[in-house]
Amino acid sequence: MFDPTLFVSPFWSWFIIILTSVGIIGVFWLIRWMSTDRPKPDQKIETMGHVWDENLEELSNPLPLWWLGMFYITLVFGIIYLLLYPGMGSFAGLLNWTEIKEYNQEMKAAEVKYQPLYDRFKSEPVETLVNNPDALNIGHRLYMTYCTVCHGSDAGGGPGFPNLRDADWLYGGEPTAIKTTITAGRQGMMPTAQQNGLNEADITHVVEYILKISNNQHDLAAAEQGQAVYGRICIACHGPDGKGMAAVGAPNLTDNIWLYNDGNVLRDSITKTVTHGRQGKMPAHGTFLGEAKVHLLTAYIYNLPNTQK
Ligand code: HEC
Ligand code: HEC
Repeated sequence: MFDPTLFVSPFWSWFIIILTSVGIIGVFWLIRWMSTDRPKPDQKIETMGHVWDENLEELSNPLPLWWLGMFYITLVFGIIYLLLYPGMGSFAGLLNWTEIKEYNQEMKAAEVKYQPLYDRFKSEPVETLVNNPDALNIGHRLYMTYCTVCHGSDAGGGPGFPNLRDADWLYGGEPTAIKTTITAGRQGMMPTAQQNGLNEADITHVVEYILKISNNQHDLAAAEQGQAVYGRICIACHGPDGKGMAAVGAPNLTDNIWLYNDGNVLRDSITKTVTHGRQGKMPAHGTFLGEAKVHLLTAYIYNLPNTQK
């Protein structure tokens, strides 16, 4: 792990130690210099030689003692602080305090405090948890914290990031499938044209076929040739009827819902997919979030398509 108390080169450590020490000694010397020479009580105080408004003179009074004392206290405080806490170059301080340690302690304290809030839903099955507004609320908040960067704050997704509000699932919409997705992550694997052994003509034809089965404008003759390509290659993952296969996360190609549609011409997006392949990655969240949070997130996601009706 990165140790924040280590400097890259010892030069900078000593640079700071020497500069700080010289600073402290310098201030100490300055205070001494300014405060020796205190006048005796009966001694007449000198003026600075200025007179304003006829009799207003500027006196050369020393600092009051309490003020001077404050300076010394600040100095002592500074020295003790630098002994206890990191500050002197790479010296870690006698208390061995670090921000990371403090952060970890606070996280642990927060976990002890909040974990029971999550745990109390753990034993309830997802199917009934969706009727519990408290659980869904917590699930929603967890979603907003951990998932919006990729799936959007409305869970509507975007190009390459699946919509989680519709009932169209890559990996299946049952609680166990959703939970596996969140816990272990998913790696989509759509091969490239080269890997599939397709030439230019094959690509053009099969793209027309995909446009046909998804009810989009297409070239009928090309689509018919594309059907043969589909039956030879694509069928293995997208299935004989093009409805996809949850086991490998192959999307349904007939529902006109597109994971990879950059908003321009659909034919171009599909051609790009078939030519270069696609490798969408859903990161694993299991170890990071823990079982109880994943359980609540599962209930929230499972319930999302219902909220659309
Ligand atoms: C770094 C981006 C990223 C984050 C963060 C992320 N996801 Fe995903 N997620 C993806 C991608 C990309 C896919 C599609 C994977 C694929 O193409 O095979 C996906 C797929 C899914 C699926 C499967 C959808 C389906 O149709 O089967 C679910 C469910 C899901 N994510 C839920 C979540 C939840 C819940 C969170 C928050 C804990 C989350 N994701 C956080 C990128 C992300
Ligand atoms: C090895 C399995 C496999 C084969 C073979 C395969 N695909 Fe795919 N395909 C996938 C997977 C998995 C995805 C989703 C990729 C992702 O999640 O990033 C996908 C995605 C797609 C998409 C994008 C769908 C969308 O919603 O944007 C299209 C289009 C597609 N495939 C067409 C084809 C065609 C045409 C062929 C035959 C030439 C084919 N695939 C062969 C597995 C496969």
